[in-house]
Amino acid sequence: MSGGIFVTGTDSGVGKTLVAAGLARLVSRVAKVAVVKPIESGCAVDPAGRPIPADALALRAAAGRPDLDLADIVAYALRAPLAPAVAARAEGVSVDPDRLVALVLRARQQAQFVVAEGAGGLLVPLAPGAPYFTVADLIAASGLPALVVARAALGTINHTLLTVGELRRRGIDVFGVVLNHLTAVDGPETASNPAVLAEHGVRVVAELPYLTPPSVEGAAAALGQTLRTEDLL
Ligand SMILES: Nc1ncnc2c1ncn2[C@@H]1O[C@H](COP(=O)(O)OP(=O)(O)O)[C@@H](O)[C@H]1O
Ligand SMILES: [Mg+2]
Repeated sequence: MSGGIFVTGTDSGVGKTLVAAGLARLVSRVAKVAVVKPIESGCAVDPAGRPIPADALALRAAAGRPDLDLADIVAYALRAPLAPAVAARAEGVSVDPDRLVALVLRARQQAQFVVAEGAGGLLVPLAPGAPYFTVADLIAASGLPALVVARAALGTINHTLLTVGELRRRGIDVFGVVLNHLTAVDGPETASNPAVLAEHGVRVVAELPYLTPPSVEGAAAALGQTLRTEDLL
């Protein structure tokens, strides 16, 4: 089975898709990459009322794999802009955690490198149960190391340490953190964040600058400044 990276984040909207897409593009230059977004909520709908999984489509394009069947990238595409388990319940969809795990493992068998994206943050519920099946459960079952995308902004030390701490508590290998500059102007805390995280044993492996416009190529170039594909594969 091939290796890969499971991209998670401290929150929704922190740049997981952009980072995952940049990573997929970077590695696609030297290896056959597969991408998975096992469950996606908040999908817009096409004129026929079918959900359009924008993240899954963006990842497929970034990996340069138009041959990949969308059904092998995303098992559940849900409309409601809610946590996946909640969106599924609202839509009367029953989510099978085994299908989510199987999707990632199949991709690991069919490509040299897999880039997976979760949904929202680490403890977001994906399927009902007691307790819920979460993104963290999916990462653990996938066997891939986790990459944490965090805002390069005030509050990120707390959010990042909580996320990394929970990953480690579950025995998940933490590849590192990407600090994403989501605004044009950095705050006074931005410069010191990597050093403070390092003091806590958390490695910032890359920083993504504010990109106007945000692009996969731009993200790949920024990530490639500090991430070497040899270290990923
Ligand atoms: N470094 C950046 N510079 C500019 N815009 C960004 C940057 N990172 C993310 N964005 C934008 O922020 C929004 C959320 O990013 P996205 O990757 O979709 O987050 P997530 O997958 O975590 O929900 C998107 O519109 C994306 O284009
Ligand atoms: Mg996303």
